[in-house]
Amino acid sequence: MQEVIRCAVLGLGRLGYWHAENLAHKVKGAELVTVIDPMEGRAEEVAKELGVANWSRDPDVAFHDDQIDAVVIVTPTATHAELIKRAAKNGKHIFVEKPLTQELNDADEVIAVLQQENVFCQVGFMRRFDPAYAEAKRRIEAGDIGKPLYFKAASRDGNVPHEEFIKYSGGIFLDVAIHDYDIARFLMNQDVTSVQSGGNILLESNQFMKKYNDVDQGFTYLTFDGGATGDVETMRIAPYAYDIRGEVVGTEGAIQIGSMRSTDVKLLTPNGSTHDLIQDFPSRFKNAYLLEMIHFIDSLLQDQAPLCTAVDGKAALEIAAAATESYLSGKEVELKNSIEKSVI
Ligand SMILES: NC(=O)c1ccc[n+]([C@@H]2O[C@H](COP(=O)([O-])OP(=O)(O)OC[C@H]3O[C@@H](n4cnc5c(N)ncnc54)[C@H](O)[C@@H]3O)[C@@H](O)[C@H]2O)c1
Repeated sequence: MQEVIRCAVLGLGRLGYWHAENLAHKVKGAELVTVIDPMEGRAEEVAKELGVANWSRDPDVAFHDDQIDAVVIVTPTATHAELIKRAAKNGKHIFVEKPLTQELNDADEVIAVLQQENVFCQVGFMRRFDPAYAEAKRRIEAGDIGKPLYFKAASRDGNVPHEEFIKYSGGIFLDVAIHDYDIARFLMNQDVTSVQSGGNILLESNQFMKKYNDVDQGFTYLTFDGGATGDVETMRIAPYAYDIRGEVVGTEGAIQIGSMRSTDVKLLTPNGSTHDLIQDFPSRFKNAYLLEMIHFIDSLLQDQAPLCTAVDGKAALEIAAAATESYLSGKEVELKNSIEKSVI
């Protein structure tokens, strides 16, 4: 058995830095040998900070390095398809951030190349590894709430991204709600067959989103192939917290995920009782980002396919594309469900 997986991280922005830090210092069996970012000075800065031996502005440096076993792609979504294909063709295993690709049309070609080159690929749906979501999955599988009937989710973020990010993000359904589409499939153990979605720009300061057919608040109604239904609320303008919640109602009970608390401390004064609120995604999902990377490296060490594959990535992408289409047309959209059932 291979003892160490040598990795390169591509893209050292908001999230890439966290993945690089985890691989450099916290994931047993991983060695971070190269960090890459085209932005002048960024790769060198991160390499020095994390004690990584090599850095570059060019992804080909990692693809053509025989020492490197796996690449972690944390670049803007529009670059994923091309980078995955180049990595696979150079024999590298791949961890890619969500979404798998920006366009649904590209997903099939990406999956075909991964299969042809016989490399593993994990998609960064880290909620599956978050201790609360993982425990909910375990309890549902154990039958604790009976048969799942209804899925409910709210993802409210208060950190409105800048215009350049919105322009290339693919829209709120692809960029944000996709996490809930994936976790819906995971928790319900059912596939989505149709969606009806809508949305609005609720804040005057976000009117620029209109140019990109985007909204700061959206909703999606889901219908599942097992007869269940659900709804997903998605918001970029929560003024109070990074508020991520989920719920599954079953025939015997319900399970709720997410408390919004950062520390388990309650302040009591004559004015009332208060507790803190989580403010951003690195705080809420710090553990999950580490646990998903531990899983990726462990899987490679054991020469096994990791969970949360490119096929799962395509399934969530298909829901997001249908939700975007439904928002634009105002009509319910049926999914083709061209995915394998066994991957949830
Ligand atoms: N799982 C999650 O919770 C989560 C959270 C945030 C972002 N993401 C995903 O991560 C990806 C990156 O998002 P971000 O917010 O970190 O973006 P970002 O804009 O902060 O960072 C992207 C970085 O990639 C670099 N880059 C651009 N092209 C590159 C290339 N060809 N090779 C190497 N580096 C390149 C940029 O210079 C930049 O530093 C997106 O796909 C996004 O959807 C996922």
